[in-house]
Amino acid sequence: MTILRSSFIEGEVIENKTWTERLYSLRIRVELMPFKAGQFVRLQLPVGGEVVTKSYSLINAPDEPDLEVFFNTVPNGRLSNALAALRGGDRIEVSQPAQGFFVLDEIPETRHLWMFATGTGLGPYISILKTADVWKRFEKVVLVHGVPLMKELAYADLIGTWQQKYPDQFRFVSCVTREQNSAGLHGRMTDLFVNDVLEKQIGLEISKDNSHVMLCGNHNMIKDMKALLAERGMSRHLRHKPGQVTTEQYY
Ligand SMILES: Cc1cc2nc3c(=O)[nH]c(=O)nc-3n(C[C@H](O)[C@H](O)[C@H](O)COP(=O)(O)OP(=O)(O)OC[C@H]3O[C@@H](n4cnc5c(N)ncnc54)[C@H](O)[C@@H]3O)c2cc1C
Ligand SMILES: NC(=O)c1ccc[n+]([C@@H]2O[C@H](COP(=O)([O-])OP(=O)(O)OC[C@H]3O[C@@H](n4cnc5c(N)ncnc54)[C@H](OP(=O)(O)O)[C@@H]3O)[C@@H](O)[C@H]2O)c1
Repeated sequence: MTILRSSFIEGEVIENKTWTERLYSLRIRVELMPFKAGQFVRLQLPVGGEVVTKSYSLINAPDEPDLEVFFNTVPNGRLSNALAALRGGDRIEVSQPAQGFFVLDEIPETRHLWMFATGTGLGPYISILKTADVWKRFEKVVLVHGVPLMKELAYADLIGTWQQKYPDQFRFVSCVTREQNSAGLHGRMTDLFVNDVLEKQIGLEISKDNSHVMLCGNHNMIKDMKALLAERGMSRHLRHKPGQVTTEQYY
């Protein structure tokens, strides 16, 4: 097996879109090597005299020319705040090739794919949903996005285009925790799952026999959802020990 070591190449910032005071999408022009939807790159910048490097999932589909990442600033976070300050024409270093196993190739055959995200954990699903593969492989595709405030429901327009294009195949629900949600459900996805509200809203049940669940974002959500899914007999999927749950932890 060949092990590819990543190296950094320079890219140019094309756009830094501000969604809210702490949510951004950065578009970077760079000679990107082929990657799989769901993978991440490392971005690096000099911050306070030191080079800081962190991982970010790619939002763009593999066939789109520019790299895109969706991120939130963290209070006193070194790289996230430096990324938020970038403007068109600025330079940034990007690791090559993209890496990670949060990709459809690693998901075993199943009928229903459930994708749960908190906050910017939505990112890899946007890339995956942009590919033809996901619509060919799964009978039902469900996306659940949890955020504190309605204004943090980024990429809603794009998600809406998939709802229109695949009305029987695709289901989306937002879970907003810190205010009422006119677009979906109010509360944490874990509580809504336990209280039987989430699956009723979607009109499908998560079952060991026909579903695979992807979890991305906050480690507490991942830990709690894994425990709830274990009660249904669902376990972490490993190549040598097949299961029904695949995770990507951001922090
Ligand atoms: C595989 C992988 C993919 C990732 N993809 C993304 C992505 O697409 N978008 C994204 O925004 N982040 C992503 N992250 C997190 C990202 O790499 C950084 O950790 C994050 O931007 C904070 O970096 P910083 O230098 O600003 O913070 P630091 O100075 O390193 O401070 C870290 C502190 O912030 C907290 N923290 C870290 N990340 C977050 C977060 N997202 N929200 C709230 N608190 C956080 C940590 O618990 C810690 O207390 C990913 C992480 C991994 C491991
Ligand atoms: N400055 C701001 O404008 C602002 C805005 C929002 C958040 N924050 C703060 O920033 C920090 C990070 O927030 P974030 O939104 O980036 O990421 P986050 O903590 O991952 O929260 C994202 C969403 O996931 C939910 N969540 C958290 N833990 C969960 C769990 N165990 N199970 C199910 N859902 C869970 C959150 O609900 P809860 O809301 O119930 O936690 C929220 O709706 C938090 O400390 C938050 O207080 C700041």
